[in-house]
Amino acid sequence: MNAEKQEIKVRRVSSRKRSRDSLKSHLTPAKKRGSTSLGQCPDSTENGVFTSAMADIKATEYCSDNEDLFGDYDSILGDSSFLAKLDYAEQDERQHGLHCAANTDPADKPDADFTSLRSSKDSLLKQACDDILTDSILDDFRDESLKDLPATQREFQEEVLEDAKRNKRREGDKTSTPFRNTDGTVEEETERAFGNKTASSPKAKRRMTDQVKRALLCNAAAPSSVSRTVVLKEAVVSEEISFAMQAMETVSAKTTDLGPFFGLPTKVKDLICKLKGIKNLYDWQETCLNLDCVQERRNLIYSLPTSGGKTLVAEILILRELLCRKKDSLFILPYVALVQEKVRGLASFGLELDFMVEEYAGSKGRFPPMKRRNRRSLYIATIEKAHSLVNSLIETNRLDNLGLVVVDELHMLGDGSRGAVIEMTLAKVLYVSKTTQIIGMSATLGNIKDLQKFLRAENYTNDFRPVQLREYVKLKDSIYEVDPKEEDCFKFSRPLNFKYSSSMQKMDPDHIIALVTEVIPTHSCLVFCPTKKNCENVAGMICKYLKEEFLLHKEAEKALLLRELRNSGNGSMCPVLRKIVPYGLAYHHSGLTSEERKLVEDAYSDGVLCLLACTSTLAAGINLPARRVILRSPYVATDFLKRSQYKQMVGRAGRAGIDTMGESILILQDKDKTMAKKLVSAPMEICYSNLMHDNGKGVLSLILSLIGLNITNSLEQVKDFMSATLLHVQERQLCVERSLWEIVQECVGLLKGKGLVAVSTDAQGEILQVTKLGKATYKGSVDLTYSDELYKDLSKGLESLMLDSFLHLVYLVTPYDMISQCKPDWMIYFRQFTLLSASEQKMSAAVGVPESFVARKAAGQTVKKNMNPVVVKRLYLALVLFNLLKETNLWSVAEKFQLSRGFIQTLLSSSSAFCSCVLHFTEELEEFWPFKALLVELTRRLSYCVTAELIPLMEVAGVMESRAKQLYNAGYKTLAHLANADPSALAKNVENLYKKQANQIVASAKMLLNEKAAALQEEVDDLLMMPLDLPQL
Ligand SMILES: Nc1ncnc2c1ncn2[C@@H]1O[C@H](COP(=O)(O)OP(=O)(O)OP(=O)(O)O)[C@@H](O)[C@H]1O
Ligand SMILES: [Mg+2]
Repeated sequence: MNAEKQEIKVRRVSSRKRSRDSLKSHLTPAKKRGSTSLGQCPDSTENGVFTSAMADIKATEYCSDNEDLFGDYDSILGDSSFLAKLDYAEQDERQHGLHCAANTDPADKPDADFTSLRSSKDSLLKQACDDILTDSILDDFRDESLKDLPATQREFQEEVLEDAKRNKRREGDKTSTPFRNTDGTVEEETERAFGNKTASSPKAKRRMTDQVKRALLCNAAAPSSVSRTVVLKEAVVSEEISFAMQAMETVSAKTTDLGPFFGLPTKVKDLICKLKGIKNLYDWQETCLNLDCVQERRNLIYSLPTSGGKTLVAEILILRELLCRKKDSLFILPYVALVQEKVRGLASFGLELDFMVEEYAGSKGRFPPMKRRNRRSLYIATIEKAHSLVNSLIETNRLDNLGLVVVDELHMLGDGSRGAVIEMTLAKVLYVSKTTQIIGMSATLGNIKDLQKFLRAENYTNDFRPVQLREYVKLKDSIYEVDPKEEDCFKFSRPLNFKYSSSMQKMDPDHIIALVTEVIPTHSCLVFCPTKKNCENVAGMICKYLKEEFLLHKEAEKALLLRELRNSGNGSMCPVLRKIVPYGLAYHHSGLTSEERKLVEDAYSDGVLCLLACTSTLAAGINLPARRVILRSPYVATDFLKRSQYKQMVGRAGRAGIDTMGESILILQDKDKTMAKKLVSAPMEICYSNLMHDNGKGVLSLILSLIGLNITNSLEQVKDFMSATLLHVQERQLCVERSLWEIVQECVGLLKGKGLVAVSTDAQGEILQVTKLGKATYKGSVDLTYSDELYKDLSKGLESLMLDSFLHLVYLVTPYDMISQCKPDWMIYFRQFTLLSASEQKMSAAVGVPESFVARKAAGQTVKKNMNPVVVKRLYLALVLFNLLKETNLWSVAEKFQLSRGFIQTLLSSSSAFCSCVLHFTEELEEFWPFKALLVELTRRLSYCVTAELIPLMEVAGVMESRAKQLYNAGYKTLAHLANADPSALAKNVENLYKKQANQIVASAKMLLNEKAAALQEEVDDLLMMPLDLPQL
């Protein structure tokens, strides 16, 4: 096996450099030499076109030149005579299918000899390729009469005959109606037509070889009533078969190369240069892509410092999976904004290389995803959506179509309930699909070994950083360089140069102004602050002492940014931003609306803003580097920084291609010095499984979905599954009081107790099944803690559903987990209550909040009657959402309820997500049928919360309300307008829209339009599909 691997590797490298002709003669197996080799076989027109047809199609689709297409046509198949023979046998069979179609139906002669399947054309073909087919075991088959064959082999031949019969039927059926397989799946157009069938189609090869293998292996075990020669032959055969099986395993892990750029056509390299501006790969990227484990599609975790260029490697592997292996891929990113950014960035690749890019974030995404006949899909998903997507693929038996799963920021496995969701997703993929490859990347991993064990993955680590990072700390008036090798950790570097007045010293005792003015406005600077309020204060304070010159720097661009910020707030604007933006400063935290955040990020990236005062959230994954990063203090809120947080923050320093060096400065007080030394020198934190987080919620919901998805149906199977989790790898550390097995038993008991799982008994023992409520719960991804409550609320709601307005429905989808963050202002509550219609007030009283209660509270009176605080707060939040749906103006609602606009936006987005969860929940429970139609529309309204005409534009990834308004006003009113727009004209017609952004908008719109058209086409095809069980004469 090893020798084989080496050989493959050598070939891969050398073949790239050789001319096409030399490849033909030395490396390319006869059947793989495109049209030439098969074309040389006399009279092989039917089969001969297989390879050439494929070559032609691909040359136009993917390759900039033919060299790309043939350059890497090396494979283990090159020397595998056995597999070559199987291929020819496959061709023989197909040829015979054609032959029979023209002559007699083999089905009429079920006892026909195997040799009778061969036509005279085949013998010519065989002659031409005799060098490969000598001593063929299949020849031996042909010499034997059928009666000499064991039963299993006869069965195999019958299958072959049946196949041929089917093929003949298909040949005769030249309509455009797609053909349905017996299992209900749809065959690809290319596979239907013989003329287009490629000789090297892995599927065909597998089918044929599988049949042979199965038949022969069964023979080995079959009771022997056959002659001694046959027995001997079978012994030889089973030996060959076992060799072939090994070879097949390696082959199935291989990729069909299409060109010299890591198996991809040169066009991909050109696109990377054109769209990303990357001309050459870093050495480590090249090494990583050439790793044996990568070539052999084994799972991989790679870990490099921030800004190391990890994403590009993942993207190249994704492209290989989509184009070369023709399998779908899933790219998991931690935040909605990152997903949108990636969708925008990769849409152009999809258009150029003919694959779909599908967004799974927020309320976007289809479960199960659309089945595509001719194109592969790249799903770009948040953690939660990726989990639902994988569940839906398992449920529909389609997980094998998913060739690759990439997880960015893999260390998030250790991040509370979100980490638990990543673990569940990966564990399911590992357990259910043996062919799906998993790749994880991270900059901060302390215990790669554990993760490797969990993912059964190889590891690649490198400490490359394109721009050198120098870490410093500031203590009093001096700057010290961080050097963990030094005994003291901190080595004196320089005194801080500043001239402060006494008032300034009082205002800025930490000398932040001195530190930032050393770099801005020429270079960029990020100041990480411990709290949101502190971000605003620090930015405001710096501005106070900045010189007037700062106002002149990029004045026009800043004025434009201010206008856009005002537009995004429908005329309202944050007073802090109004004051600080003219100086080139802004703050960045979750209190900003997503539109504001995007405007601020873009302005910072373009150099219009030179400083952002931000919270730690900016550090995760967003590509906003700075020349200098300042950590205002070693705390996040009141917690001392973790090593990984520190690394993520300082890692933003140094912009590749712009700066030659990046630096970070951590501002320290004396009291924090010892802790800080540990912080800068300690090894990375350990990433622990979070399935036991929050009282084992993760394990509970995992087990529920395992049973629901039929992955496991007994306690033993659940145990077996759990032994393949990260929790099992870390059982000793995490399951101290009880073993994992005890936890599993306990969880199953709990699920039974909650009425989510039921047990029945058959001959094999106890069978676990989900109840209807259990199914609704896992299908809706509803937190187990709330599923009971949700069921009760919805049932009660049905009794007297108030549909005069949205209030009642909105109340039912107000997320339970936001309630704890709500503190009603009783005066506002009362004022809002009085504005409700009579039926709305009646509904409020019915759910448990009568007017008298709110009035008393507003008047400051004590209320004797015990009210349910959850209901009271939930209704308050529902009122916020209700106002938002009516006004569609976040700012005025924020003012009305005296809440931050960031909070209101979070409430809105989590309500739209919960609304779609509730929708899926109700879909599984017949009694809730009326909700279905209502919640579909409500999800849509909550997702966009804008006037109806803007919704089609906002469906395009990353187009937010104010941009949609601009586009609409400029005449781009529909998706088709955007998809057909000329990016230059678009950039010219829309203020402050750069050409690059215009390109991305047009590409994303085109992709979305394609997706919608494909979905409709799919529906048409399904409608016209000929039913398999159509009664015949
Ligand atoms: N070979 C290359 N040549 C030049 N620039 C590159 C190359 N590879 C990646 N980059 C650029 O480097 C920057 C950082 O890359 P990337 O976002 O992949 O980093 P990362 O390793 O994922 O870091 P983080 O851990 O911070 O997410 C990006 O702007 C990317 O375009
Ligand atoms: Mg990254």
